[in-house]
Amino acid sequence: MMASLDYQSGFRNQFSTEALPGALPLGQNSPQRCPYGLYAEQFSGSAFTAPRHQNLRTWMYRIRPSVLQSAYRPLPGRNIETAPLAGAADPNQMRWDPLPIPSEPTDFIDGLFTIAVNGDAGTQTGCGVHCYAANADMTRRFFYNADGELLIVPQLGTLVLRTELGVLDVASGEIAVIPRGMKFQVRLGEGCEAVRGYVCENYGSPLELPGLGPIGANGLANPRDFLAPVAAYEDETGEFELVAKFSGQFWVADLGHSPLDVVAWHGNVAPYKYDLARFNTINTVSFDHPDPSIFTVLTSASDTPGMANIDFVIFPPRWMVAENTFRPPYFHRNLMSEFMGLIHGEYDAKAEGFVPGGASLHNCMSPHGPDADTFAKASAAELTPQYQGNTLAFMFESRYVFQATEAAQTTEHRQRDYVNVWSTLTAQFDPGQR
Ligand SMILES: [Fe+2]
Repeated sequence: MMASLDYQSGFRNQFSTEALPGALPLGQNSPQRCPYGLYAEQFSGSAFTAPRHQNLRTWMYRIRPSVLQSAYRPLPGRNIETAPLAGAADPNQMRWDPLPIPSEPTDFIDGLFTIAVNGDAGTQTGCGVHCYAANADMTRRFFYNADGELLIVPQLGTLVLRTELGVLDVASGEIAVIPRGMKFQVRLGEGCEAVRGYVCENYGSPLELPGLGPIGANGLANPRDFLAPVAAYEDETGEFELVAKFSGQFWVADLGHSPLDVVAWHGNVAPYKYDLARFNTINTVSFDHPDPSIFTVLTSASDTPGMANIDFVIFPPRWMVAENTFRPPYFHRNLMSEFMGLIHGEYDAKAEGFVPGGASLHNCMSPHGPDADTFAKASAAELTPQYQGNTLAFMFESRYVFQATEAAQTTEHRQRDYVNVWSTLTAQFDPGQR
């Protein structure tokens, strides 16, 4: 059971899928008796009254309704934190080495480590930024997050996301999004001894494709490349745990069955995955360095147009052809706050120190940019067309200032001397030489 790795293509389509023929009721959502004795359950991903183009709901036809669980009990001891934190944010630029792979058996949930948070989960603004490192499957337990949707960015290894709506196989170089509240389980892909990556826990409005403006109808991430699962279920009884993240705390309830028992479903709120290699990268063919917003894959709107709750931006392999231009990322101070990670290869603003699995944080108006070695090299480089192939970096960019957690600030894998990457930049000003 639960095997299918087929996918349905499209972004927020009204999908229809059934794992048994005729399991999906025709013509209505909640008939007096569903086919095969299934229960109908609506999953609302937006307020009922959200505008039609933002309205998200899916009908599940399942073996048992979700109410069949025990009461919730508090579950202490996770390394995940939620905004708002006590204390204050810090303007210092920060950088981290990769999260170490655990030595003890650790599953995806126990392997999450919060780097920074912003906004307020209770008012559905901002996000939590976590890294994960795990070496064990979730077997008897399942998870859902009432505080936000989860954008998962694998850096090492493949994740098998077994969700209520079906299975997603997500390799490094792909991303996945699990909707707020959807139950799922994470297993390691075939042959993976350990997995590592990043998670953006989006407390705000669900991620959507950015508008394209003058770019036109095509380009950046195309809707057809987003893949949702087909229905797949398991009918298993036994002792299972349902772990919930709710209002910043962890809770656990007992289940007498696997909650992955949805035999058919239809609707437009579903987990999905996307291969970042499908991104149609658009960039300058004349001069200058466009703002990185040109690389936006997904965006979560805030209540101010043009100021994202979160943008998910990538720096993919691409041709560099700009003439008479300093080609790497520019020196920068930004109203928005920037968390960056590296999936593989090298990032063109840094000569060393920013490695795959690592992370950096440049908060609102804190200066950042190329290090001294990169500046010297790029200023003298011959500007022939160059293919920058060995790279895949990304950014979670937000209008809200990030507050690094105490644990992330004090962890051994934080690079405390990060600010020194710029300390050897020297004044080259000469009023006699234009
Ligand atoms: Fe920046």
